[in-house]
Amino acid sequence: MIYESLDKFRCDFLWGSASAAYQVEGAWDKDGKGPSVWDIYTKKPGTTYKETNGDIAVDNYNKYKEDVALMAEMGLKAYRFSISWSRIYPRGRGEVNEEGLKFYNNLIDELIENNIEPIITIYHWDLPQHLQDLYGGWESREIIEDFNDYCVTLYKRFGHKVKHWVTLNEQNVFIGLGYMTALHPPGVKDNKRMLQANHIASLANAKAIQSFRTYVPNGMVGPSFAYGPTYSYSCKPEDILAAENAEDINCNWWLDVYCKGTYPSFALKYYERLGVAPVIEDGDLELLEKGKPDFIGINYYRTATVQMNELNGVGVSDSMNTIGKKGTSKDSGIPGVYKSVKNPNLEATNWDWEIDPIGLRTGLRRITSRYGLPILITENGLGEFDTLEDGEVVNDEYRIDYLRDHIQACKEAVTDGVELLGYCTWSFTDLLSWLNGYQKRYGFVYVDREEEDIKELKRIKKKSFYWYKEVIKSNGEKL
Ligand code: BG6
Repeated sequence: MIYESLDKFRCDFLWGSASAAYQVEGAWDKDGKGPSVWDIYTKKPGTTYKETNGDIAVDNYNKYKEDVALMAEMGLKAYRFSISWSRIYPRGRGEVNEEGLKFYNNLIDELIENNIEPIITIYHWDLPQHLQDLYGGWESREIIEDFNDYCVTLYKRFGHKVKHWVTLNEQNVFIGLGYMTALHPPGVKDNKRMLQANHIASLANAKAIQSFRTYVPNGMVGPSFAYGPTYSYSCKPEDILAAENAEDINCNWWLDVYCKGTYPSFALKYYERLGVAPVIEDGDLELLEKGKPDFIGINYYRTATVQMNELNGVGVSDSMNTIGKKGTSKDSGIPGVYKSVKNPNLEATNWDWEIDPIGLRTGLRRITSRYGLPILITENGLGEFDTLEDGEVVNDEYRIDYLRDHIQACKEAVTDGVELLGYCTWSFTDLLSWLNGYQKRYGFVYVDREEEDIKELKRIKKKSFYWYKEVIKSNGEKL
């Protein structure tokens, strides 16, 4: 629909920004924290851009007050951050580390004192290494109890202060990259193991939501999903079918399980025929049924455009453009299912991520139609090179354009009838981009460090900082 005027954002709209523990905190072995799988994985040569890791990251562990002061200056309404499991339980289970809880308690209090609503992400990929070594992490059903115990500890400590909670961040990404392309820990390439680990993660998610009802009865909880809605490359019926395949395999496979408690039937049958479908035990479907969320968190960066792929066609690519050189991404697909192609109608970033605000509106509408749940945009942003100019100026007009167009798309979606709770940009300060080092920047606040030279980690406000401040002040009317 094209409208002459648009609805307004709700008056309690959560204008936010997001981060993740491993990407900002640093202090990787301080105050009793145990190692996570990322602490270990990034030390293996060749896994990340220029061997970067989060040992120091942007030192938010020590500078959190300075960062929160900048959020307050901006007028941010919400800050989504993640808790590092191995800071709370250094070995993933057993004795709790009070020092770890204290850090997050202080951060939460600092936010609340500054009228910023904390949004907790319980798990943003940094699994305690001990659980990986002990029983293979997400591949063992033992993790369901351990994850639940960790969640309950957090609910008991912070449930009275924090209303919005995110369970798992991008299960589709940490499972897909961890067990299909081997680009993330534990670095496995095995579809059967991937689908089984994924099923166990879904059960852990459902159990965590079930417990949430007991301990945080007035809160709201949901997972964050990396949603890239699928387009068909053409109106050829073969391509349309390929797009339906991709939407089922890449999106509904997770979203249906979260919101309906069942797997999408065509994708499940396809995996069963291949002999790789997850083993669904007695009681699993009942647990999924009991663990449905209050909202769906959406991390949106881009859409996917696909075409028919013959049985002897291109397979899954295990490489990624991590250097920021446009056009270096490799073709990828699943033979007989779909293959991804470049969308000629869209511009892309230097990391080959296509920029598509209308895709965000389309995705929000698809989720609303299929599940009828409120949506919280838990991430959206532009990763680009930034230049620090003389006089400590960062002129990131391109980021402002990106965010403006996506917020406009949100407004159109709200006018369509989408129930949108808030919008968190990725990210507030610059941070470590898992495989891409520190040069792929996302923040409103420039952090002066490079891959090899951490300098003084000085915080410098970018042009987009002042722009978002006005957006928040006008509740999204002044874009
Ligand atoms: C999401 C993650 O996948 O995208 C973030 O939740 C991540 O942690 C963000 O940083 C951007 O991805 P990247 O690879 O550019 O850092």
